[in-house]
Amino acid sequence: MEKVRWGLLSTANINRRVIPAIRQSARGELTAVASRSQESADSYAHHWDIPHAFASYEAMLASDVVDAVYISLPNQLHAEWTIRALQAGKHVLCEKPFALTLADVDRMMAAAHDTGLVLTEAFMYRHHPQMKLVEAFVRDGRLGDISLIQSVFNFQLKSRDNIRLSPELGGGSLWDVGIYPVSFAQCVMGGPPEWVFGFQEVGDTGVDEFFAGQLHYGHGRVAQISSSFRTPFHTRSVVVGSKGRLRMSRPFTNVEESEMVFYPDSGEPEYVDIPEEPLYLGEIEDMHAAILDGKPPYISLAETRNHVRTVLALYESAAAGKPVFL
Ligand SMILES: NC(=O)c1ccc[n+]([C@@H]2O[C@H](COP(=O)([O-])OP(=O)(O)OC[C@H]3O[C@@H](n4cnc5c(N)ncnc54)[C@H](OP(=O)(O)O)[C@@H]3O)[C@@H](O)[C@H]2O)c1
Repeated sequence: MEKVRWGLLSTANINRRVIPAIRQSARGELTAVASRSQESADSYAHHWDIPHAFASYEAMLASDVVDAVYISLPNQLHAEWTIRALQAGKHVLCEKPFALTLADVDRMMAAAHDTGLVLTEAFMYRHHPQMKLVEAFVRDGRLGDISLIQSVFNFQLKSRDNIRLSPELGGGSLWDVGIYPVSFAQCVMGGPPEWVFGFQEVGDTGVDEFFAGQLHYGHGRVAQISSSFRTPFHTRSVVVGSKGRLRMSRPFTNVEESEMVFYPDSGEPEYVDIPEEPLYLGEIEDMHAAILDGKPPYISLAETRNHVRTVLALYESAAAGKPVFL
């Protein structure tokens, strides 16, 4: 196999970002889309110039025109279709949040292990040069001992008819956008927190429309995270250490507009140059390296499991009004 043939499992909005990345990549081609009706699959395939259109997800998985699938379904359906895709012999790039229970994550990991196929979580920002620079700052000790992370992802969800507001489909601001700050903190701190404390505002939709969490990593290290569907778009991350702090204005999305500044202990702030790269390209190239070259995916399933574990602990804490140990 010289190229990876991709199939889109659904006609989700987010595909608009991933399709150009597959086409920009050196070793990928987009060969198919599956939707819940032939009409929708056909019109999507026509619009995006995709050769094969399937009237069901099962039909695409049973076909031999794709090697890998991108799962962009509502959160509640990630586990079922990831497992079905792996069992049908397809490699899987699954959107975040990977799954909504640890039992599902474990079933997904077992399916990947049993089939020997590639499975990884689609956290595009982790592959971008901006995040690699953050990791280098931490690794090289330029920030000193890190004691605090503050990280936010808010946007205003104007439509009330959205999968993000459905409890049955795994909606909620923490699952949707709060998981970015959670994963950011895990990456910088080098692992999951020891214990967490969460606070949520549940709307009449039945899902959290605002979430604030405090994550404790031991040795006095803390991350404060928040997510919201109720306030205008705002993202930010700050990492504070004994030798200085690093601030990003767009850590997760719209990275091409991001300003990254290092404030050393003394001296002038340093404006860090962020190499340009399409935001979704890295996760696609990473899949190609895993499938074609046998490289381990950049985001391991162990890391992914801890993302889900931390979010579940935060929800449990918010519901109980008490700290929860992981
Ligand atoms: N990484 C990122 O940057 C990013 C950004 C946005 C979203 N996401 C993730 O991507 C996933 C999709 O988000 P989205 O906003 O793109 O979703 P969306 O536009 O609402 O699309 C979801 C798709 O799932 C299919 N579907 C199957 N069963 C469904 C059901 N019961 N209700 C609604 N849709 C159903 C539909 O496709 P068919 O009708 O074709 O079957 C629908 O188009 C989520 O997991 C989200 O967290 C990631």
